[in-house]
Amino acid sequence: MQTLTLARPDDMHLHLRDGAQMKHVLQDSARQFARAIIMPNLKPPVATTTQALAYRDRILKSLPGGSDFQPLMTLYLTEKTGPAEIIQAKQSGHVYAVKYYPAGATTHSESGVIKMENVYPVLEAMEEQQLPLLLHGEVTDPDIDIFDREAVFIDRILAPLIKRFKNLRIVLEHVTTKQATDFVKNGPENLAATITPQHLLLNRNALFAGGLRPHHYCMPVLKAEEHRQAVVAAAISGHPCFFLGTDSAPHAKHDKESACGCAGIYSAHNAIELYAEVFEAGGRLEKLEAFASHNGADFYGLPRNKEKVTLEKKDWPVPLTLPFGEYTVVPFRAGEPCHWKLK
Ligand code: DOR
Ligand code: ZN
Repeated sequence: MQTLTLARPDDMHLHLRDGAQMKHVLQDSARQFARAIIMPNLKPPVATTTQALAYRDRILKSLPGGSDFQPLMTLYLTEKTGPAEIIQAKQSGHVYAVKYYPAGATTHSESGVIKMENVYPVLEAMEEQQLPLLLHGEVTDPDIDIFDREAVFIDRILAPLIKRFKNLRIVLEHVTTKQATDFVKNGPENLAATITPQHLLLNRNALFAGGLRPHHYCMPVLKAEEHRQAVVAAAISGHPCFFLGTDSAPHAKHDKESACGCAGIYSAHNAIELYAEVFEAGGRLEKLEAFASHNGADFYGLPRNKEKVTLEKKDWPVPLTLPFGEYTVVPFRAGEPCHWKLK
C-alpha cells in the first residue's frame, strides 16, 4: 500500500465556534493538526486580549483527553481597537495575529473595518510588535461583481497597504484567484497566503451541479476553473509563501440548507486527506509536507512540529453528517469517498 509520512501539519486558518458545537469540531482538528490559528469571528467578536485568553481556556478545556493540540489565538480588528491592545496581545504570548474583516463581507463581520485608513494607527503598532495581519481579502462594494471582489481588493487595498507598511507581516487568507496567487508569489517576503481544500478541489460549477448546492457555498465564493488551476499550481509549487489554512467553517445543516444559507464549508474532518489528493493529482506529493507542516510555521516564526503522521492511499466513505452540538454538520465530500486516510 502507498503511504506518505510527514511532520504533523498545522491549520493556519480555522473556525472552531464555541460551546457544545466547538467540543465536537475540535476533536476533528485535534486529530489532524498539531496547532491552528483560531479565527475570532464569534458573536460577540473576540476583540480583546482578555476575550482571546478566555476563549483559549474554553478551547483547552474542551479538548479530548491526552490531546496536546495548541490553539493559536487571534484578535478581531474593529475600528475601536487601539495600539495599546496590540501591545497587550503580543505580551500575552498567546495571540499570534489580528484578523481584518471588511464590515459586512461574511459571517459575523458586522464589527469589521469600514475603511482601512481608519485602522492605520493599529497597523503601525502591529508592524512594530511584529503581530501579523490576516486579511479577508474581498471588497464589499455592492457594485463589484461577487467573483471580482478579491481581485479588486488586491488593487484597491492590498497593493497600497504593502507599500505603506513595509515591515507588516500579512497573510492574504483563503486565496481563490490567479490575481491573488500571482500577487503573493511576486510580493515581498512578509506577504503570504493560505489555501483551503475547497478552492483547490472545486470550481464554481460545483455550486450548481444538478441543483443548488448549499454545502459548497463559502466566502470567498468558488471561482472559475482557470482560477482553481492557478490556486493548485501555487499550493503544489512548494513556494514558502503558500501554506495550509482550511477555513473549516461549520454551520448546522439546517442553517446551510435554508432560503438564505450560511457561508462556510466544514473540512476539519478530512482536511489533510483532501489536500493529499490535490498534491497527488498534480504529481507533487513530495511538496505536501512543506505546504502543510513547514511553510506556515516558518512564516509565524514557530518551531516546526517534530511528531510525524502517516497517510495511506485507501478509499473510505465520508459520513453524511457529523454531530455539531445539538445539531449536525455536513462535512466536505459527505457521502462520497476520500482517497487517502490518516492513520
Ligand atoms: O465561508 C466562510 N465562512 N467565510 C468566512 O469568511 C467566514 C466563515 C464562517 O465563519 O462561517
Ligand atoms: Zn475564515
